[in-house]
Amino acid sequence: MSSRQLGIVWDINKCMGCQTCTVACKMMWTNYRGMDHMWWVKVNTLPGKGSPKDWEKMGGGYDKNGKLAVGKLPSPEEFGEAWEFNHEEVLHGGPQVQLKADKTPTWGPNWEEDMGSGTYPNSYFFYLARLCNHCTHPSCAEACPERAIIKRESDGLVLRDMDKCKGHRKCAEACPYKVIYLNHTLNQSQHCHFCLHRIEKGVAPACVRQCPGRAVWVDYLDNPQGYVHKLVKEWQVALPLHPEWRTSPNVYYVPPLSPPHLDGNGNTDESQPRIPPEYQRYLFGPQVDQALSTLKAEMAKTRRGEKSELMDILIARRWKML
Ligand code: SF4
Ligand code: SF4
Ligand code: F3S
Repeated sequence: MSSRQLGIVWDINKCMGCQTCTVACKMMWTNYRGMDHMWWVKVNTLPGKGSPKDWEKMGGGYDKNGKLAVGKLPSPEEFGEAWEFNHEEVLHGGPQVQLKADKTPTWGPNWEEDMGSGTYPNSYFFYLARLCNHCTHPSCAEACPERAIIKRESDGLVLRDMDKCKGHRKCAEACPYKVIYLNHTLNQSQHCHFCLHRIEKGVAPACVRQCPGRAVWVDYLDNPQGYVHKLVKEWQVALPLHPEWRTSPNVYYVPPLSPPHLDGNGNTDESQPRIPPEYQRYLFGPQVDQALSTLKAEMAKTRRGEKSELMDILIARRWKML
């Protein structure tokens, strides 16, 4: 446990899947040797297998007795190895094929982009940004035999001491979110550190700051004036992903409001959500029903011309950095 905890809120209703966060992180942190295949944040299209492929079925976290539940180590193929591109040939009049033919990838960080689910005309998809959750109970840290991962007292960040990491990868087995990558050059693991150098200067992480949709907020959870506190604690419309894995994640998501169901004549039925409620509960737990009700009620207020603090926060008219 730490005395304070930083948290991030990602509004799924505003995330447009542009991957600006993904690229901001890539350019800042994983553009070095041995990191080509790393995407400390990536935006998956849901429902889908995500990345690594089928990560939700790989296990980890804690069981109901609080014991470490060791899961599977994702393979390089499941993550999707670094893709190799033909930039030189394409730029100089060669074949207009971007990927090198002998290195055809079979998976990657955004393999299922914009693949919908459901049956037409009731198809749907939405985007889910995935990164380290800087969990309150980080199973990655407990699993490491070298005690190389610490939970920082001052802000709750889950950080790796690279002088201690020996590449055992027990952390990656124990993390249920499968967000830890192996640097093959160093033979050490690496993961998102919430841009700690920026945080220490009072600046938001690169992924948060660069989001053109203003869909992401960062702040200390105990700051009563902060929007993260208001969305998570007061309004309770921002929820952790898969809370049943018991690591107590600190990345929170405003769940997706569903478009209405359409009948064969194109008439809408507002009483039936297109995104199955059981899928929302699978992702965010049973609290998602109340969160969605609150969001709808506050939206209705603004449509009637009434004021809603929640909608003002989510619209981010007064968006500002940490
Ligand atoms: Fe550790 Fe995984 Fe939680 Fe990050 S998301 S703190 S790597 S258990
Ligand atoms: Fe990358 Fe920083 Fe965002 Fe973590 S917080 S995913 S290191 S940009
Ligand atoms: Fe420990 Fe993971 Fe490194 S288990 S030694 S932090 S690869």
